[in-house]
Amino acid sequence: MANKLWEKDFEVNKEIERFTVGRDREMDLYLAKYDVLGSMAHITMLESIGLLTNDELEKLLAELRKIYTVCEEGKFVIEPDVEDVHSQVELMLTRALGDMGKKIHSGRSRNDQVLVDLKLFTRHEIRDIADHVKILFDELIQKSNQYKDALMPGYTHMQIAMPSSFGLWFGAYAESLADDMLFLQAAYKMTNRNPLGSAAGYGSSFPLNRQMTTDLLGFDTMDYNVVYAQMGRGKMERNVAFALATIAGTLAKMAYDACLMNCQNFGFIRLPKECTTGSSIMPHKKNPDVFELIRAKCNKLQSLPQQVMLIMNNLPTGYFRDLQEIKEVFLPAFGELRDCLQMAAYIINKMEVNEDILDNPMYDPMFSVEEVNKLAAAGMPFRDAYKKVGLEIERGTFHADKAIHHTHEGSIGNLCNDRIVALMEQNLHGFNFERAEEAEQNLLDSCR
Ligand code: ARG
Repeated sequence: MANKLWEKDFEVNKEIERFTVGRDREMDLYLAKYDVLGSMAHITMLESIGLLTNDELEKLLAELRKIYTVCEEGKFVIEPDVEDVHSQVELMLTRALGDMGKKIHSGRSRNDQVLVDLKLFTRHEIRDIADHVKILFDELIQKSNQYKDALMPGYTHMQIAMPSSFGLWFGAYAESLADDMLFLQAAYKMTNRNPLGSAAGYGSSFPLNRQMTTDLLGFDTMDYNVVYAQMGRGKMERNVAFALATIAGTLAKMAYDACLMNCQNFGFIRLPKECTTGSSIMPHKKNPDVFELIRAKCNKLQSLPQQVMLIMNNLPTGYFRDLQEIKEVFLPAFGELRDCLQMAAYIINKMEVNEDILDNPMYDPMFSVEEVNKLAAAGMPFRDAYKKVGLEIERGTFHADKAIHHTHEGSIGNLCNDRIVALMEQNLHGFNFERAEEAEQNLLDSCR
């Protein structure tokens, strides 16, 4: 490996090189675009404090803009002999502009460079996840409203319990996603702070203008303490992982419900046959593999915080190469969750509901509490009413009144979907994605 940034008068052992680089170059491809943006902000700041001339800045920015386009076209590669994305970008600049390219690293370390790359990447991915959560949310609310009057049994202990409805079921998962957005917003706020200028973790003797790079990159604030900025590596990933895991938890549970409800013994929902998969031996099979895979992938995603935590567990202050390993579990997680969200929205849209389940008398006992309540409302002590209805059920003389009469908030008769929609709106508000995007666009536009 020839082009190492830190190579001096000896060549590194090939086995050591193979092991220390591992899959990191592959992971760095996720970060390439953001590495370029971070460099644009850094050199703009370097020029402002006299470490680059205006002419040098313009030439470097123009070259970085070209590299950014290469990234957008999906054509950015880290050449076989190059250690990482940071080295590749510097190499490309040096190839194009000679010694000028070697000036960009003043006041910077790969430690704060990878930190800022990770934050810019994560910020972007969080927006994408929030967008996909909203699409699924809208599908759920739509289905909830559509089936607001379609009753189904509610279960406790997997035993038929009380009347529920498809409207409640779909709406419950919509509200769960609204709550999940609170975690995502907290994660975003922690992510959206600028670590650049912390260099190797202890700052720089150059008079870096950290506020300037914070503004140029559209971060809310900077990580003020340079030691803390470096401590944020792993901590940010862990906290974002918790936010992804809570969304994944909602999806996994929903998928499991759907698998059960789709089973012939329940027969509550049906998938169009083109959305099922078959068996190589049993000609009749129409399996809900989609839900099973959403369940498995989302269960896997729920282990992400633990994976991140175990990698960074008990690391003392300062940078360690251990942190590199987090990228392998963290960076692909957004795409995996996005895929599940997309597929969940798609399949919820296609799902058909059996609105006649309650024709089957086996579900009649679930109206027992309704009956007890009716008697109690008419003046009979609750316990007496409970015994009376209980005995009727035991003796097979119970007749269920299957009409739902109550309409108070949050009951089957009143799903409060408008309130849930308002909650989602509120929880999606305050991310301030636009500010970040505008800053990135301005930075790109500053390159000629
Ligand atoms: N690949 C490294 C990582 O992800 C980049 C930072 C390297 N810094 C260092 N001091 N070796 O952590």
